[in-house]
Amino acid sequence: MKNKMMVSIPEIQKNAYPIFIGSNVILNPKKWLPNDTNLSAIVIITDHTVKKYYGTALKNLLKSQGHPCFLIAFPAGEKYKNNQTKIKIENTMLRRYCDRKTLILALGGGVVGDMAGFIAGTYMRGIPYIQLPTTLLSMVDSSVGGKTGLDTPQGKNLIGLFNHPQCVVMDVGLLSTLSQKNIINGLIEAIKVFMTNDVKSLKYTQRNLNKILLCDSNVIKELVARAITLKASIVERDEKEQGQRAILNFGHTIGHALEHLSQYKIPHGFAVAYGILVEAKISQLLGLLPENDYVIIKNLITALGINGTQLKKYPLNHIIQQTKLDKKNQAGKVRYVLLRRMGCTHVVNNTFVHSVTDKLVKQAIHLVSEG
Ligand code: GLY
Repeated sequence: MKNKMMVSIPEIQKNAYPIFIGSNVILNPKKWLPNDTNLSAIVIITDHTVKKYYGTALKNLLKSQGHPCFLIAFPAGEKYKNNQTKIKIENTMLRRYCDRKTLILALGGGVVGDMAGFIAGTYMRGIPYIQLPTTLLSMVDSSVGGKTGLDTPQGKNLIGLFNHPQCVVMDVGLLSTLSQKNIINGLIEAIKVFMTNDVKSLKYTQRNLNKILLCDSNVIKELVARAITLKASIVERDEKEQGQRAILNFGHTIGHALEHLSQYKIPHGFAVAYGILVEAKISQLLGLLPENDYVIIKNLITALGINGTQLKKYPLNHIIQQTKLDKKNQAGKVRYVLLRRMGCTHVVNNTFVHSVTDKLVKQAIHLVSEG
C-alpha cells in the first residue's frame, strides 16, 4: 500500500502535487507544509464541528511551531456552501490583512474543501492551499482533482473553478470520530469509482465491508489508496472533464438532483447511491448492463442500509426537472454515465456521457423505487 503518491497534471507541470496517506500524519506539519519562509500567514478554514475536534488543536500546534496562524469556521453542512459564506470568509481574511503570501489549509469534509479551494482560487487572484480532508468522502473523492465551488439556489456546484491544492494530507486516524453513516457516505464514492473502473477493488470492498464499517485503519487506508489511485489517473488524463473524467459522475446526475430537492437533507453519498441504482437501471433497460450486474449493485447498496423505496418521496417530474441544470448537459440534453458491465462504462466514439429520454429515466426511477 502506498503512503505517498503524486497527481501530475501534464498541461501545467507545476500542478504535480503529492497526496500523503497515513495515521497521525496531520500532526507532523513539517512533512507537508511548504518550506516557503516568506509565508505571511496560515489560515485554517474549517466548519464548527471540525474546529472543535481538530481545528483548534491544529492551530495551536502550528503556532507552537512558530507559524502565524488563525482559524475561520463556518456552520457545518452543505446548505452553507454558498456565496454568503464565501463572502464572509473573504471579508475576515481582508480584515486580517491576508496577502498573496497567505496559505489556506482546508480542514474538513467536501464542503470545506470546495469552499476553501474556491476562495484560494479567487482571493487576490489566487493564493496556495492544502487539502486536509477529515471525512472518508473527501479522502476518496473531493480532496483530489481540483474541483472547487459552491451551490446556488438553482443547483449544486454550479459556480466554481478547477484549482489544485499544493498537496493533500489524508490522515485516516481522523475518521475514528465519524459515525457509521458518515463512513457509508464516503464509501459510496469509492464504490462508485470501482463500479466504473475496477472490479478487483469492488470485490476487495465487498470482502472487507464489515472492517470498513468498523473503520479498521489498515483496510480504510487500502480503500482510500485504491480509490484515489484510480481517481488521480483519470484526473491526470482529463483535468477539466472534457471527456473521461465525466465517468466520475456515475450516479451524480440523479444524485445531485435529489440532494438539491431534499434541500441537502440527503447526504451526498446517499444521494449518489440512489443515483447509482437509477443510472445502473437505465443501463440495464438500454440492454447494456447485464441483469446479474445490476443485482450485484443493488445488493451492495442494500447491504449499506440504502433502499430505493425512499425515492417515492420525490415526484418524478421534480427529479427530471432538476436534472435539466446538470453541468454535463449539452444543448438542453441531460447526459448520463452508463455502465456496460461491472467495472466498465459505456463509451461510444470517445463520448463518455449519453443522453437518455425523460421517459426512460422516469421508468428507471419508478422501478428502483418499487424496491
Ligand atoms: N467528484 C467527481 C470529480 O472530481 O470529477
